[in-house]
Amino acid sequence: MKIIAFGIRDDEKPFVDQWCQANPGVEVKITQELLTPETVTQAQGFDGVTALQLNPYADEVFEKLASYGIKNFSVRNVGVDGINPQVVAKLGIKVTNVPVYSPAAIAEFTVTQLLNLLRRTKEYDRKMAQGDFRWAPQISRELNQQVIGVVGTGHIGRVAIQIYQGFGAKVIAYDAFRNPELEKTGIYVDSLDELYAQATVVTLHVPLLDSTHHMLDQAAFAKMRPGTLIVNASRGPLIDEEALIAALDSGQIAGAALDVMEVETQVFNHDLGNRKPDYPAFNNLFARDNVLISPHRAFYTDVAVRNMVFESFQASRDLFEKGYSDKEVKF
Ligand code: COI
Repeated sequence: MKIIAFGIRDDEKPFVDQWCQANPGVEVKITQELLTPETVTQAQGFDGVTALQLNPYADEVFEKLASYGIKNFSVRNVGVDGINPQVVAKLGIKVTNVPVYSPAAIAEFTVTQLLNLLRRTKEYDRKMAQGDFRWAPQISRELNQQVIGVVGTGHIGRVAIQIYQGFGAKVIAYDAFRNPELEKTGIYVDSLDELYAQATVVTLHVPLLDSTHHMLDQAAFAKMRPGTLIVNASRGPLIDEEALIAALDSGQIAGAALDVMEVETQVFNHDLGNRKPDYPAFNNLFARDNVLISPHRAFYTDVAVRNMVFESFQASRDLFEKGYSDKEVKF
């Protein structure tokens, strides 16, 4: 079997080597290039393709893969919102993802950022860089005093809940599909409105779907308690950024930690030097003391990267050799 892996970063290479050593029957070619209608031509003659990128995959990529007789595609991450499901279905291409590479990586990062918001770290860092080591006026809030509203109780949301409970915070949760074990603990509220009415922190752990696009919009922010904090390391378009800016301006929202943004691909994972991106909402939010922006890095740990490589390569192999993988995505 021959696998081609697109968008391989230097930090992934040792794990690719390890996987290859454990799978001597598989020939693997790696490239740093992302998968585009131009680079996809390199996949000719291969049996499996893996990729990881923030940019969506063009429909043409799959049309070309199908024309080369390639019927499987394995992403090295969890989100498949960059893939047009109708196109892959029409072409008969099976898609796998890595649904559980390290829920703790993402959950821990969201908690870290919430603590940074509560402790006003950005303001202190800026003050201290100017030689000001005074406490006031950045008096902070305590995590144990918060009511954490967890939206989405999949693998990541559930780890986040455990961590928050360890800090002594009250946690409430909402999910259209409840986890039976969690339900026994009485943590669920019946609606998002109820969660917004009670929470002092709203943290999003849901995928991007038509039903979740802009779930935090003007109406949602208006239903929250004044001074609520927002955490999002899931997908940028879950939040209407213009509505967030208005809610921050009015003080309805006291701060936000954003690891994902609506149009992040022009900024994240690029070195822009001193150039300001042509992205007014980003520039507005980035300049604020009470908004923490990070470049979609919640996933980026040693454990996660290893699992992303190993499990995607194995899924590609399974699809080709067995015609089946337990990582196949049911869109
Ligand atoms: C995902 O796994 O879907 C992420 O958001 C991580 C990112 C590298 C694409």
